[in-house]
Amino acid sequence: MSTLFDPVRIGRYIAPNRLVMAPMTRSRSDAQGVPSDLTVTYYAQRASAGLIISEGVFPSAMGKGYINTPGIETPEQVAAWKKVTEAVHARGGRIFMQVMHCGRVSHPSLLNDATPVAPSAIQPAGKAWTPVGQVDFVTPRELSTAEIAGVINEYRQATRRAIDAGFDGVELHTASGYLPEQFLSSGSNQRTDAYGGSVENRARFVLEVLDAMVSEAGADRVGIKISPEMNYNSIVDATPQATYTYLVDQIRGKGLAYLHVALFNAAFDYHALLRPRFDGAYLMGGGLTQDSAEQALSEGKADATVFGSAFLANPDLPERFRVGAALNTVDHSTFFAPPTAKGYIDYPTLAAVQTD
Ligand SMILES: Cc1cc2nc3c(=O)[nH]c(=O)nc-3n(C[C@H](O)[C@H](O)[C@H](O)COP(=O)(O)O)c2cc1C
Repeated sequence: MSTLFDPVRIGRYIAPNRLVMAPMTRSRSDAQGVPSDLTVTYYAQRASAGLIISEGVFPSAMGKGYINTPGIETPEQVAAWKKVTEAVHARGGRIFMQVMHCGRVSHPSLLNDATPVAPSAIQPAGKAWTPVGQVDFVTPRELSTAEIAGVINEYRQATRRAIDAGFDGVELHTASGYLPEQFLSSGSNQRTDAYGGSVENRARFVLEVLDAMVSEAGADRVGIKISPEMNYNSIVDATPQATYTYLVDQIRGKGLAYLHVALFNAAFDYHALLRPRFDGAYLMGGGLTQDSAEQALSEGKADATVFGSAFLANPDLPERFRVGAALNTVDHSTFFAPPTAKGYIDYPTLAAVQTD
């Protein structure tokens, strides 16, 4: 039986507790995708997490999907991230970078007027967050088979740069309707080449990207996030149980650091389906409370538990859970906001509250 405060192996590392900070986009980088010193402080404040997973970071300029999100392509971006990883390490923490290519969930105004790319030319429903406000998604351009190899190489290079910037590992974002899930899902992938059609073909892109990331970081520094049936950004798969069973069966044996599964009111218990199939650390997330996380750990349903908005609003979340303290109120209005301290680095710690 494990508790939140037992150490746990996550790939190459021993995390001192089982509280993982979820990847969260905060849209506080500059227009060139460079994080600021506020970002250094934000992550350093949260270094008591067993593991921090960074906000989604685009591997190449064509992977950008939201205003003021960060990249890991230019020397300026790498240098800024180096400050983040050094600050987290100086406080005794560990941090993986989430690599996030948005594919069709983007807009030409975010891509120097280029058309977003995707497995198939299918326009998602919904709106993009752009410098000119919220505008309808456009019909993306279908990647050629040759171009897919180029995108996979971008993930490989991004992984190299993330490691060079001091990240302890990388997470492949395969959830929330972005490029990898666009390949995986039947509703967004109607290709007739080796990357479309059967489940085996639709999973090929994800598996090849993972192999490329592993080739740079080592398997024990690579994780993957999935959210079956989340249906975010109008992603739909006709046979999600079969799709994710196949994917996880293929991933098993690669020696990956972790499988991160975030569920949001899924009608089906994917944790019960997927955890027994995976051989690395199993990270469970999505709407957890201290009680539900402790229960999942004590029942052996997960190796570690992932908290999003609670970590956003409580830099010292592990300490608060340890002493049973109240949590700060989450301010949704500053989830994505101009890069000031407000709602970013000004959530008080328990110590600050007690000495006020
Ligand atoms: C402000 C915000 C931004 C998010 N951005 C990302 C992201 O960049 N990548 C990702 O995989 N999930 C993202 N998520 C989802 C979280 O990683 C997590 O799965 C979700 O918040 C559920 O956990 P919670 O209920 O503990 O908040 C985001 C969530 C929030 C609240």
